Amino acid sequence: MYPAKPGPIGVFDSGYGGLTILREIRRRLPDYDYLYLGDNARAPYGTRSFDIVYEFTRQAVEELFSRGCHLVILACNTASAKALRTIQQHVLPITDPDRRVLGVIRPTVEILGKVSLTRHIGLLATPGTVMSHSYAMEIEKIYPGMCITEKACPMWVPLVETGEADGPGADYFVKKYVDECMTADPDIDTLILGCTHYPLLLDKIRQYTPQNVRILPQGELVAESLADYLRRHPAMERECTKEGSVEFLTTESPDKFDSLATLFMQSPVASSRITL
Ligand code: DGL
Repeated sequence: MYPAKPGPIGVFDSGYGGLTILREIRRRLPDYDYLYLGDNARAPYGTRSFDIVYEFTRQAVEELFSRGCHLVILACNTASAKALRTIQQHVLPITDPDRRVLGVIRPTVEILGKVSLTRHIGLLATPGTVMSHSYAMEIEKIYPGMCITEKACPMWVPLVETGEADGPGADYFVKKYVDECMTADPDIDTLILGCTHYPLLLDKIRQYTPQNVRILPQGELVAESLADYLRRHPAMERECTKEGSVEFLTTESPDKFDSLATLFMQSPVASSRITL
């Protein structure tokens, strides 16, 4: 049903956030081809219900498969939290058992044992990711007894999606959520940026976070985990083409996408619009 020949690696996010992951993946694995899809017209996902996030994510994954991807990275915590498992368990076996979809939560959690001394972790994420407790469950599996404070930051994605990440409104909301998280548990020594949009607010997050607290963006962790995955799965690796290209798709206006995406990627972006 989907094109059988090798194709690019698909990278999906509700909007611009996944670009922070794509940037690191390309830095780590520059030879592969990538197809990025941002569902900007329907972002943010973080305040949407489980069913809707699942449905939107499934549509996006199927779109990327139909455009030749054999491997898709959900560069979105909300989609990873709410849709990944169902897609892996119920969609892939029916549509094409040889294609793969990977998320961003597991690679982020795996590193915690190496970086946290107090074993008190703060999670800054969308309301959807926080309500799913996916991080808490994953941490409990790998590092039982580690203490996690989950803090929803509903205003951060809209600030990024509207291009207001550098504005004074951002200062107010960044300080507010970081303070609330640190007050809830002053022993936190590691803050997970559990939403791929948040690195776009990194300077401000740093500014309002106590200096002894490590901030953990996900890009490098996901890139390293993908490199490891491709090493361990040579059959899938052979399905990924290597011309070093990158193509961008958005469900919103390409002009709007290109101007912000160019800024985030630090290189020119020319996207095409699609409908899901
Ligand atoms: N960037 C996404 C995440 O990592 C989703 C943001 C949103 O659409 O709310 O959670």
